[in-house]
Amino acid sequence: MSSLYIKEATGVDELTTAGSQDHPFKTPAYALFASQQKSDTTEPKLFVFKTEDNEYQEISASALKKARKGCDGLKKKAVKQKEQELKKQQKEAENAAKQLSALNITIKEDESLPAAIKTRIYDSYSKVGQRVKVSGWIHRLRSNKKVIFIVLRDGSGFIQCVLSGDLALAQQTLDLTLESTVTLYGTIVKLPEGKTAPGGVELNVDYYEVVGLAPGGEDSFTNKIAEGSDPSLLLDQRHLALRGDALSAVMKVRAALLKSVRRVYDEEHLTEVTPPCMVQTQVEGGSTLFKMNYYGEEAYLTQSSQLYLETCLASLGDVYTIQESFRAEKSHTRRHLSEYTHIEAELAFLTFDDLLQHIETLIVKSVQYVLEDPIAGPLVKQLNPNFKAPKAPFMRLEYKDAITWLKEHDIKNEEGEEFKFGDDIAEAAERKMTDTIGVPIFLTRFPVEIKSFYMKRCSDDPRVTESVDVLMPNVGEITGGSMRIDDMNELMAGFKREGIDTDAYYWFIDQRKYGTCPHGGYGIGTERILAWLCDRFTVRDCSLYPRFSGRCKP
Ligand code: 4AD
Repeated sequence: MSSLYIKEATGVDELTTAGSQDHPFKTPAYALFASQQKSDTTEPKLFVFKTEDNEYQEISASALKKARKGCDGLKKKAVKQKEQELKKQQKEAENAAKQLSALNITIKEDESLPAAIKTRIYDSYSKVGQRVKVSGWIHRLRSNKKVIFIVLRDGSGFIQCVLSGDLALAQQTLDLTLESTVTLYGTIVKLPEGKTAPGGVELNVDYYEVVGLAPGGEDSFTNKIAEGSDPSLLLDQRHLALRGDALSAVMKVRAALLKSVRRVYDEEHLTEVTPPCMVQTQVEGGSTLFKMNYYGEEAYLTQSSQLYLETCLASLGDVYTIQESFRAEKSHTRRHLSEYTHIEAELAFLTFDDLLQHIETLIVKSVQYVLEDPIAGPLVKQLNPNFKAPKAPFMRLEYKDAITWLKEHDIKNEEGEEFKFGDDIAEAAERKMTDTIGVPIFLTRFPVEIKSFYMKRCSDDPRVTESVDVLMPNVGEITGGSMRIDDMNELMAGFKREGIDTDAYYWFIDQRKYGTCPHGGYGIGTERILAWLCDRFTVRDCSLYPRFSGRCKP
């Protein structure tokens, strides 16, 4: 019978341990286990080092019993480990074989199939039973056993595509990544009852080509615009973020809104014009002007095309423009941009009441057309499920009554004091009031002093102007408009009051000289009306590449 030595402090539990006094095991259980692994048939005698006596002593009966139990556990563990090792080796072999066969699969088009009709995704929904080819970006990618599902996006819509058989197994398919571009060939099939996918169809892919493989790993699309990232990082990656569901939906609604606005203007017989953006006049106060050096002369980026629209009345009749306006806004708010798309109109020979009705028609009808649009309508529902289309007539609220309302509701002005006639109703108070009232409001008849130089005074109360702000719940002001001073002397007094040098305005003043007329107009912030329509927290979400102080890229 052999002897094995165990010393807890310095021993080593390894199969190569000799078990001598110089090279003892650490535990009795392992010493037994090691001896059995060496196929020793008789149980060795175990000697355990006793620190208190400084010598090896034969193991006690109870400790030996415990060691045998421990040895059984070690044996079981060893068997399990061996099994796992074997399984791992098998799996590796299988994977290697799979990879080899995947590498060997070449994706080829079956020439005997009918020629594929090139189609955009939106048109493919009506091509059930036909073989088509669609090109686009991989929006979603998922594999389920031996089938790969791709949601393809081409800007016109989304389609679910199914790759099975060799197509799903090929290495080329396994290497596909989100945002890669592909051309998929296959047959459009109707989805079975109970299943849902865009257009109610699926593309059964029989062949495909990779157009551009997007990176995976560190540089992958989802890493670049990870959900919950800092908004400023997402703005740096705006070119990629625009591919996301919500932003692209807002941009589609935006396109539909501009189309609808143009349609209403067409129905109302307004002519579209495109005034210059580089100007030498201000419209809405000097403090938000973007100055520029124009070949050595001082010039500005336009704040509003209003003055130019006024000059078009005598030439073209009622006119509108949809173009960029610029405001050097110092404050960071959720509804201010440095550059925004301004929808502006100017109409001749009308009363203030006519103007209000016209604005109502424009807003009600253009929203109606957006909701009726087959693409934008469902997107508005998706983005803003509780949206209720506005109905005319909108609530009319005079500025002086708004001041009373604010006082009654204990809402304070910017100085934290009770509102008084003449105060500007700043963003916070305006939003509180609008959200509480909860419906679109025409806030009218603002005091002369808090409005621009060109606004016409009310004939029944010269302290106030024929002016209007349209206020929408959750956003506040989306539109500002007014009747314009049409009398030359009154206009000159307006310039004087605001301290504006009139030299640069000779062409604007001439409108009062060469056949003046009662007229009025307004401007709508496209991003503001969209924020209301699409329920976005900030107008930044409604601009393609938003500009605000500190951000002029990408
Ligand atoms: O009220 P505002 O300053 O009016 C004018 O510019 C007039 N001259 C327009 C006209 O009568 N033709 O601006 C009109 C609208 C606002 O109601 C708001 O919706 C939007 O333009 N707006 C802004 N939108 C985003 N960022 C800003 N910094 C904006 N400033 C005004």
